[in-house]
Amino acid sequence: MDKNNPIGVFDSGVGGSSIWQEIHRLLPLENIIYLADSKNAPYGNKSPEEITALSIKNTQKLLELNCKIIVVACNTATTNAIITLRKKYKLPIIGIEPAIKPAALKTKSKSIGILATKGTLSSALFSKTNKEFTKDISVVEVIGEGLVPLIEAGNLDGQEMVELLKKHTKKMIEANVDYVVLGCSHYPYIIPTLKKILPKHVEIIDSGEAVARQTKTVLHNLNQLREDTSKPRLAFFTNAETNTLKFLLHDYLNKISIEKMDF
Ligand code: SIN
Repeated sequence: MDKNNPIGVFDSGVGGSSIWQEIHRLLPLENIIYLADSKNAPYGNKSPEEITALSIKNTQKLLELNCKIIVVACNTATTNAIITLRKKYKLPIIGIEPAIKPAALKTKSKSIGILATKGTLSSALFSKTNKEFTKDISVVEVIGEGLVPLIEAGNLDGQEMVELLKKHTKKMIEANVDYVVLGCSHYPYIIPTLKKILPKHVEIIDSGEAVARQTKTVLHNLNQLREDTSKPRLAFFTNAETNTLKFLLHDYLNKISIEKMDF
């Protein structure tokens, strides 16, 4: 594999661009191709079979585009499809899982909240991690119903978002959680809104940085980190409209391309 080949990142939509930001920050020389499957978002309420089929479709496209590693920047796709993807394809595949372990280790109130999609919370992989790390603490699991479509539409802090987040965090606040784990790669974009709703002492944890570190470690171990210091190609492809990606990535518009493509 050529070290100049891109890192391939896919998500059910625009949310995984929060993970892309962490990868680009840690690996600024890497060429990266991002696929936003917004036409099929949200994945969260789909069956494991549908999520797996969509994940295969996205991986196949990234392989056609010569990617050297795949980052599944979607919790729902990771928890439902990563085992199948790793069996089916030879290249390294990195996934994203809710950061339950650090929250479980740090909590003082012995109570943590997890906000994720139905698909993630009901998956076997999530249930295994959850059981492993939360034996002596209470976990308030909440399905973030309705959040992904609002984020896909670029609504990060409107009235509808605020009302939904108040509803979704009610049980967590009542259970005195001191950590809220974000189990969906779309949710980092609503951290500022969440912070206004949660009590001041509550910490919010997401897994973006951990995914970027893992990607770097795997590429380093395989001797596949790009060494060429010329400007990297940073390409975003969406199969829906490009407006929300442009809005979320406004700080990067001078160095990235965002295009519509069928896949
Ligand atoms: C979704 O598409 O419903 C959410 C994506 C994720 O779980 O990260």
